Amino acid sequence: MAPSDEVKGSVSGPIRVKLSPVEETMILTLWSRARDAASPNSVLGDIHAQRILDRVDVDSFSPTMFPSDHRYDDYITVRAKQLDEWCKTFLEAHAHEPIAVLHLACGLDLRAMRLRPFCGENVHWIDLDRPEVVNLRRRLIPDLISAKAKDREWDYRLVGASVTDESWIEEVHHDRPLLIIAEGLFPYLTPGEGTALLRRLVKHAASGCVIMDTVGTILIRYGSLMPLFRGTTVRMKWGVDDGEDVAKSHPDLHLVETVLFRDLLPGMFASAAPPCLGILTPVFSLLPSWKTYGQLLRLEF
Ligand SMILES: C[S@@+](CC[C@H](N)C(=O)[O-])C[C@H]1O[C@@H](n2cnc3c(N)ncnc32)[C@H](O)[C@@H]1O
Repeated sequence: MAPSDEVKGSVSGPIRVKLSPVEETMILTLWSRARDAASPNSVLGDIHAQRILDRVDVDSFSPTMFPSDHRYDDYITVRAKQLDEWCKTFLEAHAHEPIAVLHLACGLDLRAMRLRPFCGENVHWIDLDRPEVVNLRRRLIPDLISAKAKDREWDYRLVGASVTDESWIEEVHHDRPLLIIAEGLFPYLTPGEGTALLRRLVKHAASGCVIMDTVGTILIRYGSLMPLFRGTTVRMKWGVDDGEDVAKSHPDLHLVETVLFRDLLPGMFASAAPPCLGILTPVFSLLPSWKTYGQLLRLEF
């Protein structure tokens, strides 16, 4: 099957959706991936994103979810790229044994498709998001969902649940190494919810790796200034300045690698960073706490 065939929807006309504010944020990342793919210097090269976006009625979403500033695209795509690289490293290191991949808060992201060339019969992959997002995903990306039936090498499942629910964890193999991916999730959980989730997962699996992004406490403290969420009820709740605090969620969890967005998107006065605190972002960038405004963490257990 040609890759471009895989995201053709089974529906006609843009789909009108009614999602909660935090669920809506998955359109922001899709929008950025689509714009990135159209740019001559595309970071991620997600050729499907625009086609998926075209199937959705964008008027159903808050207009702030479609920022015109390309620096949001840069932030989102370098984040996805780095996480993809860490995934590949894990998949290659465990190519000859059964493993499980748990992609939390998958939204409409096609990481499973991007990394499929690195997944053999040994991989059981779960994409998970809230039920409403998963319903939409099923309508927009039907071929990936039914891929298991067509291709026995691809053990894929899509689960609709909140990460804070207890039930779904039983779907995750507990007797093999587990790769946990969470992109754009933990900042929306409270610190209590986030650490409880990590604790449950680490207790559940024999061993594994967690790759995730965080936002710094500066973005929590001044969150009301964020243009992205103006007029919405979306709030980021878990600010992290030190990845070791995330590792404290469970004694077996160890921080292995940290990547700062400040280094991925360098520039004086945050010139390459998204203007997440509005026009005052360059001023905020002078504060010491700006250093960790965004981080990517790799942890092992
Ligand atoms: C910023 S989007 C990121 C989506 C995707 N990872 C991406 O990069 O395109 C945040 C996602 O987190 C999901 N989410 C937020 N809270 C959640 C929860 N409690 N359980 C499951 N998913 C959640 C939302 O539904 C949304 O799809």
